[in-house]
Formats: sequence, structure tokens, C-alpha cells
Amino acid sequence: MDKALVSAVDGYIESLFLESDETLERTLRTSDEAGLPEIQISPAQGKLLYLLAKLVGARRILEIGTLGGYSTIWLARALPEVGELVTLEYEQLHADVARSNLEHAGLGDRAQIIVGAALETLPGLEAGDPFDLVFIDADKENYAGYLEWAIKLTQPGGLILADNVVREGEVIDAESDDSFVRGVREFNDLLAADPRAESVIVQVVGGKGYDGIAIARRV
Ligand code: SAH
Ligand code: DHB
Ligand code: MG
Repeated sequence: MDKALVSAVDGYIESLFLESDETLERTLRTSDEAGLPEIQISPAQGKLLYLLAKLVGARRILEIGTLGGYSTIWLARALPEVGELVTLEYEQLHADVARSNLEHAGLGDRAQIIVGAALETLPGLEAGDPFDLVFIDADKENYAGYLEWAIKLTQPGGLILADNVVREGEVIDAESDDSFVRGVREFNDLLAADPRAESVIVQVVGGKGYDGIAIARRV
């Protein structure tokens, strides 16, 4: 793949469809300064999440894997005034950076960050209202578990999205001993076979490389 061309086209898309945004730029800057890994979604993917959330009219959004809150801000911005977002993050430092960024974005009262291992905090959400959209983007080894929770916590018509399900094409290697690839393959197999969702994977190329997003509609 011609990486320079793919990056240039991502820049072209950004120049057309993304405005310069001090709040999102601050989020990237503070995340970098705090030493967080640079693994947040790209600006164009952020716009995609935002559009999908608006298209399903999401009022309650769940995110698994907050990092510094970049994708969180994109998703929360798609909510109506009465909307709510819950985001789950294992690292206290990441959650602290994200909290500050969400507050700076004016979304502090719309977004709640729950700190802990998501598989341990997800059961606490069962008593609440269902979610209209779930974005899975945390540790790939637990994606299969996150899928089960996402299905449990959404109602028919709900949208489930999962980042990084192609991993530079490595996902087609059934013999891979990479735990990232194995986790994602297990997730993809379960999703494809699950009668509770209608699903597909869209390959994504851009400035952040070659990956893919799973898109599922809760039946
Ligand atoms: N959604 C973010 C990127 C998330 S990166 C964005 O696009 O802006 C993945 C995040 O998942 C990291 O912050 C990592 O600390 C977190 N994570 C890893 N294991 C986790 C777990 N078991 N439970 C919750 N979060 C976890
Ligand atoms: C990586 C990328 C991601 O988008 C993510 O959520 C986790 C890890 C990575 O490239 O390692
Ligand atoms: Mg990701």
C-alpha cells in the first residue's frame, strides 16, 4: 500500500470535512504531554463516529476504552442535550486526562468516566437504561467479552462498533500467536455467528495506517 498517498488523501478529506478545532487539538496535546500512547482514532474516524451516533439518534452511548477522551468528545458531541455517555477506562491517568478534556469541551456533565477493568465495571451498568450505541476500543484480548456485554446492554436497532478489527491485515492469519490478533479474530468469529446482530467489517485506511471497524446492528 502507498502509505504516503493514503496519508495525503486523509489530509485532503480533513481539509474538506473537518474544521480546525481547538478543543480536539488540546485533547491530543494534553494526551501527548501526559505520555499517553498515540492510538486514538483519526479525525475522519471521529467524524464517522459522530455521524453514526447522530444517524441512530443515540441518546445513551457506551464507550469501552477512553484514553485521553478524543473519541469520547466526538461521540458526546453527537448527543442531544438530554443525552448521556458512559466511558470505561482502566488507567487512572488516562481517565484524569480525559476528564479534564471533557470538561474543557463543555461535556463534563454529559459524560461519565468509570475507572477500572471494563469486564469488572460493565456488570454495574446492567441496572441502568440500555444504550443506543456501544463503541468497543479497549484491550483486544477481551473483545469477545465486551461483545457479549454490548449485546446485553443494547436494545433492538442499537449500534455496536468495534475499532481495530483488521490490524494491518494480520487478522486473516489464523495461526497468529499475537494476542491482539487472536482477540480480534475471536471477536469477529463470534460477531459473525451471532443471530442477535447483523454485522459487517469495513476496512479503514488513513494517516493512522490500515485497520478496520466492525459495524453491527442489534436485532
Ligand atoms: N477510544 C480512544 C482510544 C482507546 S485506546 C480514542 O480513540 O480516543 C485503548 C484504551 O483502553 C486505553 O486507554 C487503555 O488504557 C484502555 N484499556 C485497556 N485495557 C482496559 C480494560 N481492561 N478496561 C478498560 N479499559 C482498558
Ligand atoms: C492500538 C491501536 C488502537 O486503536 C487501539 O485501540 C489499541 C492499540 C495499537 O496500534 O497498538
Ligand atoms: Mg482503537
